[in-house]
Amino acid sequence: MEACKCEEKWAKLEEIIAAHRGQPSALIQVLHEAQELIGYLPRQVLIAIADGLGVSLSEVYSVVSFYAHFTTKPKGKYQISVCKGTACYVKGAPEILERLQKELGIKPGDSTDDGKFSLEVVRCLGACGLAPVMMINKRAHGLLRSDTAVTVLQGYE
Ligand code: FES
Repeated sequence: MEACKCEEKWAKLEEIIAAHRGQPSALIQVLHEAQELIGYLPRQVLIAIADGLGVSLSEVYSVVSFYAHFTTKPKGKYQISVCKGTACYVKGAPEILERLQKELGIKPGDSTDDGKFSLEVVRCLGACGLAPVMMINKRAHGLLRSDTAVTVLQGYE
């Protein structure tokens, strides 16, 4: 596994696949476990999962792209999750997201070239009273405006 370069993780992944060999219905569960293990889902991992479970690679890709939770790219050191749940949406989340995209030069689902930041859109973070909210790793930042969101970001640079 070129992207992972870790024999231990590869062996663990093979165990996960072996536990569900020939079971296409376990696809989501296996993808979830693989992402927990590796942090993302590189192509080589998806090929191994497709082979092991007996599903086509295109089917695996369509599941991965359907669920925002799955990612085929490594996450940045700082993972920014912008909430676009209803409360955050009406209080300006789209503008905040737009501003962060411009600032970082990436779209949701991508990481900056230096591997420092990755950006994703999530649904309600359970902090609607602080809307609009974004999380950076495990820390929530609320009552944002687009300019304060950028200031928060600069604190991580
Ligand atoms: S909608 Fe954003 S925290 Fe609930």
